[in-house]
Amino acid sequence: MRKKVIAANWKMYKTPDQTRDFFREFLPLVSGHDRDEIVVCPPYIDLAAALDSAKGANVAIGAQNVHWKEEGAFTGEISPGMLLTLGVPYVIIGHSERRQYFGETDDTVNLRLKTALEAGMTPICCVGEVLEEREAELTEDVLRRQCVRAFHSISAKKAAKLIIAYEPVWAIGTGKTATPQLASEAHLVIREQASEIFGKEFADNLRILYGGSVKPENSKSLMSEEEIDGALVGGASLDPKSFAAIVKY
Ligand code: 13P
Repeated sequence: MRKKVIAANWKMYKTPDQTRDFFREFLPLVSGHDRDEIVVCPPYIDLAAALDSAKGANVAIGAQNVHWKEEGAFTGEISPGMLLTLGVPYVIIGHSERRQYFGETDDTVNLRLKTALEAGMTPICCVGEVLEEREAELTEDVLRRQCVRAFHSISAKKAAKLIIAYEPVWAIGTGKTATPQLASEAHLVIREQASEIFGKEFADNLRILYGGSVKPENSKSLMSEEEIDGALVGGASLDPKSFAAIVKY
């Protein structure tokens, strides 16, 4: 049995004060919940407040990106070592918004992933097709290509902590959710590709999350699928009650 991961991606929302307010309300709602791993990924400036608020609780903290160098003249970037020193073990890598708006490519995803894994972090690597690709029946090709390039020159041993998030771009922030069946089909493609690269045993243990308009109303049907090992939640994770309801589907 793969333990599910329910992760919040806050994107560019909330200040440190709002972060503390969130945890004050959220933690009692999920206290004692150990069926799933709960992760919250706020903006960098909120990490300290999140860590402080979640101290001793069953909620881990993650970042939304990480650079591939340990230090250097890279204005605006944050390294894996910096995050780990702070106490942040999880990191989202290759989110479609980074690919779409900030020049992230399969190659930079690979660099970030390699460095994060080598540093001992738990990366949540995002893949997913855009609407035109789905309509042109290119979803499988796109997912396979994104995985092959993201995992390039990474060994199964190094990749042990890897988590994948399947996030169809047409379902992000649109209110359109992939049906559980459609998400499962995509997860199977990803698992098959991971098996080709890392071996069957690795793929059997690999956790693949679904992201794209996950809400309290649809989390149960999605999470009931055998292929779906958790969720990466955007908008609905900003409200403590709604994120708690998703966690407790
Ligand atoms: P929404 O849940 O707002 O659709 O966002 C999904 C997402 O991008 C999570 O990383």
